[in-house]
Amino acid sequence: MTSVSIIGSGKMGAAIAEVASRAGASVQILKRSATSPSAARPGFDYGVVGDPIAGDLVVLAVPYTAYPSLLEHYREQLAARVVIDISNPIDFSTYDELRSPSDSSTAAELARLLPEGSAVVKAFNVNLGDTLTSGTNGTTVTTVLFAGDYADAKESVAGLIEAAGMRAVDVGPLTRARELEAMGFLQIIMAALGKTRYESGFALLP
Ligand SMILES: NC(=O)c1ccc[n+]([C@@H]2O[C@H](COP(=O)([O-])OP(=O)(O)OC[C@H]3O[C@@H](n4cnc5c(N)ncnc54)[C@H](OP(=O)(O)O)[C@@H]3O)[C@@H](O)[C@H]2O)c1
Repeated sequence: MTSVSIIGSGKMGAAIAEVASRAGASVQILKRSATSPSAARPGFDYGVVGDPIAGDLVVLAVPYTAYPSLLEHYREQLAARVVIDISNPIDFSTYDELRSPSDSSTAAELARLLPEGSAVVKAFNVNLGDTLTSGTNGTTVTTVLFAGDYADAKESVAGLIEAAGMRAVDVGPLTRARELEAMGFLQIIMAALGKTRYESGFALLP
């Protein structure tokens, strides 16, 4: 059975937990602290940051700025797993720019911080949480775009997405994360400005 650990128990943590549950995976949720808010669901295994990671796939459902502190606990454990970076480091004080390194991406920076050969996959960042929870953007099945350098890791991520009833599209190597982050940024600011709905999102027609 696929096993998924999700670090972070906010909006995206809950949405991806729902995806993993639909896919029939076992789910571990590691909260920032015992007092971090999260709806407890039967069947999920809950812990706090610092507890051992149980899953083969690990989703970092925290702000990009929290990565260095997470790696203090988990750098070595993550090296043996598929690490899913979902971040869109938007400057929420202006809603006008991404805080990704100008010639790189959060995913590439994460790969650089992990031991060489760590399998980082960029995924789910071009999906608003509601469209993952429901599996639809209102008119079509939710499409999840993903990028990475390791075929086995990408196969595992695609398997999870498809088992949850969504469409998985491999957009290429991890260098494509830069474009995915730009798309994620655009989608979120359009929703924040009221030009689209949070239950909606980019669709890729067959
Ligand atoms: N919201 C979306 O639709 C969306 C879409 C695509 C991508 N994303 C990306 O998904 C990620 C999570 O966003 P979100 O919307 O789920 O945010 P959120 O609802 O604010 O949840 C953030 C989670 O991260 C935890 N956290 C914050 N700082 C931490 C730290 N230093 N160490 C450990 N945990 C920490 C929070 O814990 P506490 O509860 O204790 O504060 C909370 O569980 C972000 O990178 C964002 O860019 C979001």
